[in-house]
Amino acid sequence: MSAPIANSIRSTPWPGTHSDEQASLSLEGRSVELPVVVGSEGEKALDISRLRTGTGFITLDEGYVNTGSTTSGITFLNGEEGILRYRGYPIEELAARCDFIEVAYLLIYGELPKKPELDAFRHSLSNHSMIHEDMRSFYNGFPRDAHPMAIVGSVVGALSTFYQDSLDVRDPKQVEVSVHRLLAKLPTIAAYSYKKSIGQPLIYPRNDRSYCENFLEMMFAVPCEEYEIDPDFAKALEMLLIVHADHEQNCSTSTVRMVGSSDANLFASISAGVSALWGPLHGGANQACVQMLEQIVADGGDVKKYVELAKKKGSGFRLMGFGHRVYKNYDPRATLIKATCDKLLAKIDRNDPLFDIAQQLEEVARADEYFIERKLYPNVDFYSGVIYRAMGIPEQMFTVLFAMGRLPGWIAHWMEMHQSPTKRICRPRQIYSGETCRKFVPLDQR
Ligand code: CMC
Repeated sequence: MSAPIANSIRSTPWPGTHSDEQASLSLEGRSVELPVVVGSEGEKALDISRLRTGTGFITLDEGYVNTGSTTSGITFLNGEEGILRYRGYPIEELAARCDFIEVAYLLIYGELPKKPELDAFRHSLSNHSMIHEDMRSFYNGFPRDAHPMAIVGSVVGALSTFYQDSLDVRDPKQVEVSVHRLLAKLPTIAAYSYKKSIGQPLIYPRNDRSYCENFLEMMFAVPCEEYEIDPDFAKALEMLLIVHADHEQNCSTSTVRMVGSSDANLFASISAGVSALWGPLHGGANQACVQMLEQIVADGGDVKKYVELAKKKGSGFRLMGFGHRVYKNYDPRATLIKATCDKLLAKIDRNDPLFDIAQQLEEVARADEYFIERKLYPNVDFYSGVIYRAMGIPEQMFTVLFAMGRLPGWIAHWMEMHQSPTKRICRPRQIYSGETCRKFVPLDQR
């Protein structure tokens, strides 16, 4: 491990303020005062931590639509106005002025790095980018056509078998080593999963490349010729990773926090996050969206037909890359991605029919009463696949790129949770709705 990057990871969570306001709740003759907690952007919550002891009741909130699981000082998201900020900095500014590593540092350590801090961070990540030679043999055990997300989840989990010297969640030094190892090795793990699937030799990382250049080289270089990195592709990749880097308490981040709350080590927690991200309602939507666009093109390009199908209850079809639990406005990440998509396709002089279809689909859906009423807009996954295609990245790798982007956010949340003085194991309750106590029936009488 090189010199420490910062004295300690200093992202202590902001607890929110208990205001003078409070709600009173009376139930079956018992009552409880529910304090109001106010966030730094004025968001309000009822603190129900004394609800059960005070009334005997719990809350029920399927899908956590109304439930704040924590206070957090990492990312601010205002879905009504389409605002996204990491540590207070607007995403648009970070995407224009930083590279991914600088943003990763910001998310994890809580502040933008000074030059020596950033240099040391980059240096450390370069030095940890190789994976243990024995781990390469894992790749031979997976079927050739295995989905790379399955491989990435498994190999990330397996890091805890090879790097047992950094698993103690209570030792800040070990945590920092694990953080650097994970960030450094994930592109290598990801690129190897692709190389394996196409039967090409695995390409080692190079310390003289930037994070994104290195990933492109490990994906596309072959040992028999020089690989020339397209700087515009590397720049687009920086932007894509930055806009994916955090999104507060989404499904995979909540999973990472949930698993980490049991004091499971960082590698195990992140591996669980990779699995949660894979689903098509979450990160897997980027692959599903491009597959949907391909289907529309193959079917003659009638976007109206597919918009009608998405509106039909029971059709089982949704517009992938559309809609969001929190955004009820244009997803600011989609705006940034669409603009880069325009530029990149113009540069490579490629007229991708999928981009045309995506734009037509957006136009038709956004003019439709069903989508207007429900405030359904394109989300981060709507245009990202089109850029990945332009860069030559295969569909199966799209969600892996999402995972590479989201990694600093997962790490930041895992650490924030561990640093919280109020941390407890996450253990929701339930309302049991099964059979009440019944008499056991022996096997020969059933
Ligand atoms: N196409 C058609 N109708 C939709 C869509 C869609 N993509 N999304 C939501 N709706 C409808 C839904 O049928 C429901 O209608 P009604 O009120 O008549 O029952 C209403 O809009 C509210 O939808 P919901 O499913 O209750 O909303 P949710 O917050 O539970 O789900 C979502 C959010 C993102 C899972 C959902 O919008 C969806 O399935 N979108 C498509 C998949 C997708 O693009 N996922 C990526 C999300 S962004 C990146 C990430 O976080 O990973």
